[in-house]
Amino acid sequence: MDLTSSQHSHLQNELIRELERQEGEKEDDEQIVAEIMRRRFFPPLITHKAWEGFHFAGHEIRITEATDCYGAVVWLSALVLCYFLETNSKQYNLVDKNVIEIGAGTGLVSIVASLLGALVTATDLPELLGNLQHNVLQNTKLKCKHQPRVKELSWGIDLEKNFPRSSCHFDYIMAADVVYHHPFLDELLLTFDHLCENDTVILWAMKFRLDKENQFVGRFQTLFDLEIHGFFNRQPHT
Ligand SMILES: C[S@@+](CC[C@H](N)C(=O)[O-])C[C@H]1O[C@@H](n2cnc3c(N)ncnc32)[C@H](O)[C@@H]1O
Repeated sequence: MDLTSSQHSHLQNELIRELERQEGEKEDDEQIVAEIMRRRFFPPLITHKAWEGFHFAGHEIRITEATDCYGAVVWLSALVLCYFLETNSKQYNLVDKNVIEIGAGTGLVSIVASLLGALVTATDLPELLGNLQHNVLQNTKLKCKHQPRVKELSWGIDLEKNFPRSSCHFDYIMAADVVYHHPFLDELLLTFDHLCENDTVILWAMKFRLDKENQFVGRFQTLFDLEIHGFFNRQPHT
C-alpha cells in the first residue's frame, strides 16, 4: 500500500506520540519504584539481630529477619503491596475490614493492613509463626484499632477445619510473592478458592519469574476476575 506524504507524516506523528507515551509511563514506573524503595531503611549500626525498617501508614515499622527460609526476609512484592494499600486507602478502605494474609512471611503486609484499621489474620507455615508473631506484636501493640492474629495456614491443608466457610468471611485476601518455584501451586489456588466469597477482593502482588510459575496467572483467571493495577518492568532486586 502506498501512502500519501500527509498520511506518512500523520503515521510518523502517531508513532512519536506513542513512543513519548511509553517513555512517560516508564518514567512514572521508575518514580514509583524509587518512592517504594525510599520507604525502606536499615539499622545505622550492626545489631545482634538482623532487622530492616520501613515507613508506611505514618509509622516506623521494624521487621526482624532470619536467613534460613523464603519467609524469613521481606520480599519486594510486600513493599509494593504495602505502598498500594497506603496510596489506595480511599478505594480500598481497610477500616474494620476482615483481612487474611496468606504466606505472610515476616508480616509487613499484615502489619500495614492493621495500622490502616483492618482486623487481620496473618498466616503462614508453622515454622514461620514465631518470628511472624514477634514482628506483628512489636509493630502493632497499642497502635491499632484491632489487634492482629497470627495463625497457621499451610496451603490446601485442613482449610474447612481451620477456616470453616460458615463462620469465616474475609473482605480481603492479601498475598505478596506467593507464586514462585515451589510444588504447592495447586494447593495455593485451592486456598484462594476456599477463602474467597463473592464479595471478597484478593490483593495479590506477584513477581514474574519463570514461565511455569507465570502460567499460574492464567489458572487464577479461570476462577477469578483479574484487574491489573500496576506492572513494573524494572525491579531493583528480590
Ligand atoms: C517469597 S515468601 C514471601 C513472604 C512475604 N509475603 C513477603 O512478600 O515478604 C513466600 C511465603 O510463602 C510461604 N509459603 C510457601 N509455601 C507455603 C505453603 N505450602 N503453605 C503456606 N505458606 C507457604 C513461605 O513460608 C513464605 O512466607
